[in-house]
Amino acid sequence: MRIGVLTSGGDCPGLNAVIRGAVLKGTKIHNQEFIGIRDGWKGVVDGLTMPLDRHSVRGLSKQGGTILGTSRTNPFEGPHGGPENIQATLDRIGVDALIAIGGEGTLAAAKRLTDAGLKIVGVPKTIDNDLDATDYSFGFDTAVEIATEAIDRLRTTGESHKRCMVVEVMGRHVGWIALHAGMAAGAHAILVPEQPQSMDQIVAWVQSVADRGRAPVVVVSEGFTLDTMEAPHSEKGLDAFNRPRLGGIADVLAPEIEARTGIESRATVLGHLQRGGVPSAYDRVLATRLGMAAIDSVMNGEWGTMLALRGTDIENVSFSEAVGGLKTVPEHRYEEAAVLFG
Ligand code: F6P
Repeated sequence: MRIGVLTSGGDCPGLNAVIRGAVLKGTKIHNQEFIGIRDGWKGVVDGLTMPLDRHSVRGLSKQGGTILGTSRTNPFEGPHGGPENIQATLDRIGVDALIAIGGEGTLAAAKRLTDAGLKIVGVPKTIDNDLDATDYSFGFDTAVEIATEAIDRLRTTGESHKRCMVVEVMGRHVGWIALHAGMAAGAHAILVPEQPQSMDQIVAWVQSVADRGRAPVVVVSEGFTLDTMEAPHSEKGLDAFNRPRLGGIADVLAPEIEARTGIESRATVLGHLQRGGVPSAYDRVLATRLGMAAIDSVMNGEWGTMLALRGTDIENVSFSEAVGGLKTVPEHRYEEAAVLFG
């Protein structure tokens, strides 16, 4: 069999470790051939490939980004998109089955293509940790580490100037990165999409920190809404899947905090720093295990399934289950963290 591997959607630390795990086990144990599909679904639609043998994955588990390239291409759009065209392209380039590594958008596309008869196994990736079917996705741990270190650094400059530091992290519509990084760094308020707050409440937390002579640190998730907002802050248009591109809520909150409290405030948007660079050891291990399990699933013909972490085990779940729901921060986890706010 010749197996195509693609990475699609936003990149994420650990993608290369998945590719390495699949190729090493696939060549060593199952004696299969691989081909790299370049730039995510775009490569499937346009037939863009690159060699992917044992040699090309050497030393790859610690490398950030993806050697295959990625894009946020919708494979159902354009003159060469859609299942029939894609199957014809795969036949032409000699690909018998696909391992698709991606997040919610990628897995939803993979589900539609598998429903139409294509042979695809999925591997979940997202720094947001928002896929309900898996306990953790690789990339999340690294993003939390990066965000935590950034908050630690912002705290020292904030303390020096007695400023309020508002730090915005990614996460789209879930607050996992904010919750974990905020808790790890001892933030005085953590604002997540699942729990809209009033400006009065935020100001009360900030003021009580300042009243004890400390410099307040507020961690806000990009998808957070004030109770007066109808939708998350978005001023950058839509992505290829028609989802609003988020970001910039920290720049809304910081001046408002300053205006209401008189405490000089600064906003920092961490943005794509959270997705770059080397994966943590935890993410390398999880990603390698997922890659190895993916090639086992291909050998077993488990099309239309994704590998998921359940406890400490890697299990197969159907694409329907995988794209079924967002894993949001439960109220009890937020309440637990909120005990330390202010
Ligand atoms: O899903 C991962 C993520 O980094 C989100 O946290 C963020 O909202 C989005 O992707 C950013 O997308 P892009 O890289 O297309 O700007």
